[in-house]
Amino acid sequence: MSQKYAKVTNNRYRLGYHIMPKSGWINDPNGFSYFDGYYHIFYQHYPFKPEWGPMHWGHARSKDLVNWETLPIALTPGGLEDKDGCFSGTAIEKDGLLYLFYTGHHYYGDNNPDHFWQNQNLAYSNDGIHFKKYSENAVISKPPEDNTHHFRDPKVWKYQDTYYMIIGSQNNRELGRIIMYKSKDLINWEYLGPVSESKDQSAEGYMWECPDLFDLNGHHVLLFSPQGIQTKEEKYLNLFQNGYFIGNLDYQNTVFTRGEFKELDHGHDFYAPQTMLSPDNRRILIGWMAMWESHMPEKKDGWSGALTLPRELILKNNHLYMKPVDELKKLRINTGIKYEVKNTQHYIISSDSKNLEINISIPYRNFTFAMKDSKDELISLNFNHDKNKFILYRNDLNSYRYSTIMNSNKLKLQIYVDTSSIEIFINDGESVFTERYYTEEIPEIFIKDKDVINSEIEVFELKNNVITFD
Ligand code: FRU
Repeated sequence: MSQKYAKVTNNRYRLGYHIMPKSGWINDPNGFSYFDGYYHIFYQHYPFKPEWGPMHWGHARSKDLVNWETLPIALTPGGLEDKDGCFSGTAIEKDGLLYLFYTGHHYYGDNNPDHFWQNQNLAYSNDGIHFKKYSENAVISKPPEDNTHHFRDPKVWKYQDTYYMIIGSQNNRELGRIIMYKSKDLINWEYLGPVSESKDQSAEGYMWECPDLFDLNGHHVLLFSPQGIQTKEEKYLNLFQNGYFIGNLDYQNTVFTRGEFKELDHGHDFYAPQTMLSPDNRRILIGWMAMWESHMPEKKDGWSGALTLPRELILKNNHLYMKPVDELKKLRINTGIKYEVKNTQHYIISSDSKNLEINISIPYRNFTFAMKDSKDELISLNFNHDKNKFILYRNDLNSYRYSTIMNSNKLKLQIYVDTSSIEIFINDGESVFTERYYTEEIPEIFIKDKDVINSEIEVFELKNNVITFD
């Protein structure tokens, strides 16, 4: 009997301008790439239920990073080499074909979810829509000897005349690490060794997932999603983390020299991002706008999860900035409404729309930005200027998140509100909070405190349903 796709039964939380599944479940972005005039994004997807299940690769493409169209599912599990799932991976163009590298997931069949093995596989396409699995899969059939069974999420790039692949993994002392391979033809891969390893389970993690490695502004950045880092004061508060090392990859000796681990996004809903290089050489990132085990009320409605807005990465002062890509201006419906806050302590930004871009320029003093419905203050963001610190509060989770920024004269906030998400970019992406929120009302959005006087606010309504699904 063929299974039926999940059905969306209520639109109340459906997003207006973010990539989300037509129905069913979504997690990591995969294979973010540019091929034949289109940006392509794939994603971990289970179409039959709004829950994680045997992973497929869902697929959407866009000419401009703003207007997306959903394409047929690109990879379906169940083959000999991907029996129980096509896990996360990468895409790369070579000689007019788009190649996908993904992890095959296999259970031993004893109902123990941790009793599995993983290998690395290849699929390819000449039209960017239909994909064929390589007949000689797997291209890497097993991990190195000193690895455990955690061996997944390949990322492939070209440097000079060689292709490199890094894979998220765990060594046999149960420390997270990234291992590297090389190839001349994308088919035959030679193992080079670990490029970076966790120094300690609780400080740096027991497993490193979803690696990405790229150069930016004369440095290398190793971006990955470590599991197992213990909460330390106001850091590492999510179930799993996401962040980066800035360093240098020595290709000859397979060593990544690096600094300390830094978290990339400070919100509750951000994980497993990956990047691509746009045709005009910007490093662009998209992440999963959720977290494992997070509560997702949209599950009741037949779908769950979404991807973040595309963000441009910029490296400045040894710090990764994430700012919304300029193309997002295309989402604006009108020319914007400007407000100057002269004489009020509680300033309401009113709108009939739930799709908003709100830009706030505010003196460097204490203030609070918040959203509320008739019952609760849903989310608040409080700035403490003595400590240079933002404190975000999520009412539905009764949970705080924190970020400290560099002292400056002014604060600049760029806020994207969608039907059930909010992404807050502070000072051109120096600090970012990504959050979901849930209400069926149009929330009231406001800033308050006596010091909001002299701030400037500009509000744009954004298009709804610009993401076309079929
Ligand atoms: C990260 C992850 C990956 C894996 C995928 C499975 O969120 O655990 O390591 O490939 O999700 O869906």
